[in-house]
Amino acid sequence: MSDSKIIEVQHITKRFKGLTAVKDVSFSVREGAITGMIGPNGAGKSTTFNMICGYYPPTEGKIFYKGQDITDKKAYEYTNMKIARTFQIMKPLKNLSVLENVVASAYFGHAAAKNEREAKERAMDILQFTGLYEKRHILSKDMGTPDQKRLEMARALATKPEMLFLDENMAGLNPAETEAAIQLIRRINESGVTIFLIEHIMQAVVSLCEEVIVLHHGEKIAEGTPAQVMNDPYVMEVYLGTKEGAHA
Ligand SMILES: Nc1ncnc2c1ncn2[C@@H]1O[C@H](COP(=O)(O)OP(=O)(O)O)[C@@H](O)[C@H]1O
Ligand SMILES: [Mg+2]
Repeated sequence: MSDSKIIEVQHITKRFKGLTAVKDVSFSVREGAITGMIGPNGAGKSTTFNMICGYYPPTEGKIFYKGQDITDKKAYEYTNMKIARTFQIMKPLKNLSVLENVVASAYFGHAAAKNEREAKERAMDILQFTGLYEKRHILSKDMGTPDQKRLEMARALATKPEMLFLDENMAGLNPAETEAAIQLIRRINESGVTIFLIEHIMQAVVSLCEEVIVLHHGEKIAEGTPAQVMNDPYVMEVYLGTKEGAHA
């Protein structure tokens, strides 16, 4: 296992007019690991995610990827840095089949396929890997939520990322579907992809993540292993004292 930090976030703050959505947050993501971010609704998770993914820059602070300052890089520059995220690539093209969707993504980024044969071969492998192979001829709009989420991951994988960001990829899944999504995320990680995920479903974070960061009112209130943060009295209070406590 590597000890190197693939992402390093230093004192980032994001202000929207009068509102400070994220305040002086610092953390790092270990290369090869699955790192999770949790916190009640409105805690600043998606804002943090958006800054790291280049959707908008922080008001203050710096973000490094493999030691390179990416604070002001734009989202479109990310696929060339071998970074993918499930919401970055356009939403599935509704009137294309599952296979066609994954083939289309194989033409993007640092490992863009050179021709149709290469794109299709890669897509077929990814469809097998993500469990969508049997459904490859279905139009994406005709699939249910769990398969749509799987397709989003398949599309991200088609760009051959080293780092994958997932923002609440399990929202709306039932327990069995959640378990299947957990297995898939674990297999993606085992294939060598570093993962940073935001998740509401505590069970997913506990079973997947090596390191968890907890945000509350825009501030980092805890970090550590799932066991460490779940035993932190302040984290428990924050979770039990909110509606989201139901997920804990
Ligand atoms: N683009 C924006 N403009 C203004 N306020 C925003 C914007 N995005 C998020 N916020 C606010 O920032 C806070 C944190 O939101 P968000 O990061 O989406 O939280 P989370 O993902 O943890 O639920 C919320 O109060 C939200 O209303
Ligand atoms: Mg959010």
